Amino acid sequence: MSRRFFEGAALAAPLPAVLITCRSPEGRDNVMTAAWTGIVNTRPPMAYVSVRPERFSYGIIRERGEFAINLTTSKMALETDFCGMKSGGKTDKAKKCKFTLLPAETVDCAVIGQSPAALECKVKREIELGSHIMFIADITGVTVDERYIDSKGKINFGQAGLMAYSHGEYFALGRKLGDFGFSVRKKPKRSPDNKKK
Ligand SMILES: Cc1cc2nc3c(=O)[nH]c(=O)nc-3n(C[C@H](O)[C@H](O)[C@H](O)COP(=O)(O)O)c2cc1C
Repeated sequence: MSRRFFEGAALAAPLPAVLITCRSPEGRDNVMTAAWTGIVNTRPPMAYVSVRPERFSYGIIRERGEFAINLTTSKMALETDFCGMKSGGKTDKAKKCKFTLLPAETVDCAVIGQSPAALECKVKREIELGSHIMFIADITGVTVDERYIDSKGKINFGQAGLMAYSHGEYFALGRKLGDFGFSVRKKPKRSPDNKKK
């Protein structure tokens, strides 16, 4: 087995490519694609996004201290790429992408109606890392498309068509392989006639 060594590089895959929404003090909504994002704590629920200072969104998030993380689907692949290519300084990306903007519940910005779920975030800390500034935020609310909530109130993204980003390419999530804890879960008991149920 041979492996090639590379100098330190930002190589982790797959990652989500999410849409970050934020609202300027003048009330202008912006949408920016981000892959340097994720969850950093469970209780309290916390997330991060790392943003380059030259992004139009950076100044807004810095000033307002609020944003939302909108999950993306295969159907949104084109729009997700577009929002990572154009700057909100010159383009109304939400309008161009025909996104339905809905009011967030706990922060003053929009969430994207086409997104299966949006995490509403309030910035708690900023860390200057080098190329990017990392915003660490409390997740103050989450809205989920009703279609992905079952009759027992459980969220199930199996049919949401979520998308992943892997080293510069977008992929549709594929076949389910298992679920959390399936490797250690007890096998279902056999029925009295010793046949598997
Ligand atoms: C797939 C993808 C992932 C990206 N991830 C990030 C990121 O994590 N942080 C960042 O600052 N820019 C990221 N970008 C670039 C910004 O989305 C891009 O510069 C965008 O035009 C900024 O929008 P704004 O100027 O309206 O804020 C990414 C772009 C793409 C296409």
